[in-house]
Amino acid sequence: MGAGFREILNKEKVQEFLDILSQHHAGTYDHSVQVGQMAHEIGVLNSINGEDLEHLTTAAILHDIGKIGIDPSIISKNGDLTPKEKELMREHPKIGYDILEDFHKHIRKPVFGHHVYQKGGYPQTPEDLQNGCGNCKVPILTQIIGAVDKADSLLSPRDYKGPMRPGQVIARLRHDFTGNHQYIDQIVHNYFNSTL
Ligand SMILES: [Fe+2]
Ligand SMILES: [Fe+2]
Repeated sequence: MGAGFREILNKEKVQEFLDILSQHHAGTYDHSVQVGQMAHEIGVLNSINGEDLEHLTTAAILHDIGKIGIDPSIISKNGDLTPKEKELMREHPKIGYDILEDFHKHIRKPVFGHHVYQKGGYPQTPEDLQNGCGNCKVPILTQIIGAVDKADSLLSPRDYKGPMRPGQVIARLRHDFTGNHQYIDQIVHNYFNSTL
């Protein structure tokens, strides 16, 4: 077992950063709490516990903290970014990694690597991958956060458009996520079971 989601969410160090994020961009704050909660559930389901569960959940809650370094108008623009804006946006994992300098490396690394396992993921140089995926435990945490992050955009009520069936969601996410598809299946199964 390990700390509960609320307990981790309410930690002073986590709240400090979330306060800044909520003032910078409310939508990213909502998304971050959702991703944190979902990642915690998937962690428990995969028998991740103790410190590892705490690292997973903390990293999931703070995975997009680097967006406080990105202009909110770019964050809200979604899909239609110019090449320059896209380049800036792609800086957010590295900014997050740097901002969280006082946090454990097993929190910082998944923050750095949370977009690696998506189609055309980033950052992708061997050195960057090493930073993002250090030792064997971390890629699991990184992959779970990457999968949950992808899933949240499709499953969150604010973006949820019409009656998409679990099978369709799984197919879409499997197409977009290059990591272990087991996590996709678990997330979608978990989501539809808990909301039925
Ligand atoms: Fe991100
Ligand atoms: Fe995200």
